[in-house]
This record gives sequence, structure tokens and C-alpha cells, in this order.
Amino acid sequence: MESTGGAAPARWDAGGSDEVPERGRLVVDAGETSIGIFRLDGVLHAYENRCTHAGGPICQGLIVPRVVELLDERRAIIGSAFNEAELHIACPWHGAEYSLRTGRHAGGGALSLRRIPVEESRGRIYVTV
Ligand code: FES
Repeated sequence: MESTGGAAPARWDAGGSDEVPERGRLVVDAGETSIGIFRLDGVLHAYENRCTHAGGPICQGLIVPRVVELLDERRAIIGSAFNEAELHIACPWHGAEYSLRTGRHAGGGALSLRRIPVEESRGRIYVTV
């Protein structure tokens, strides 16, 4: 992948739009930064390919629907189900999950993947690092 800028931060041509279909993924290197690019509901999301836990290649993990607990009228847990509208990515090293839409750790708190600016123009995807 080649940079289209001279000084940092640089804009990188990450590939063709067709390389990231709906619910798809593309992992690229922009200089020394590995980046995962995802498309969810038509919107691109890009994150540094580095887990907050121990630096694992989070963007290469399994993409799974969010698991939600089912409650009865007394708010007691009666089971669980998948929320197909919300996707998570699970780190291949130790299983930490993050929202694909926000980059936030599924367990709550302040942990979040580093979001990378991403844009699409004339059939190409660009990231700025
Ligand atoms: S490095 Fe990702 S969960 Fe440990």
C-alpha cells in the first residue's frame, strides 16, 4: 500500500471499495501500522490492529454477533440470544470482544480500540495514519 501524502499523518490508499463488502473486512499495513477496515450497515470503520489487552491482532479475530441476556418479567435471566444487528470482533489471542461499530470493549469501561480515520472516494478506500 502506498501513501499519497509526504508528511505524517499520511493518507494511504488501502484498496478498492469492493474489497470491503457489507460485513466484510480488509487488513492492510499503512507504513508500520496494521489496520483493520470493516463495513457495517454501509459505513466503514477502521481500527489499529492491536488489542488493548496485550497487543494481539484483534482485527484478524472472529466476527460474531453480540450475545444478549434474555430476562423474564421479574428481570431474572432466562437465557441468551444473538443480536445480529450488533457485531463484535473477538481477539484471537485471549478472546476479548469489541464492538465493530464503536471499537469499545464489550465489557464496558474505558477500553477501546484505536479508531483510524477512513474515507471512501471514487471506489477507493483511504486511511489516515
Ligand atoms: S491480546 Fe487480545 S485478548 Fe489478550
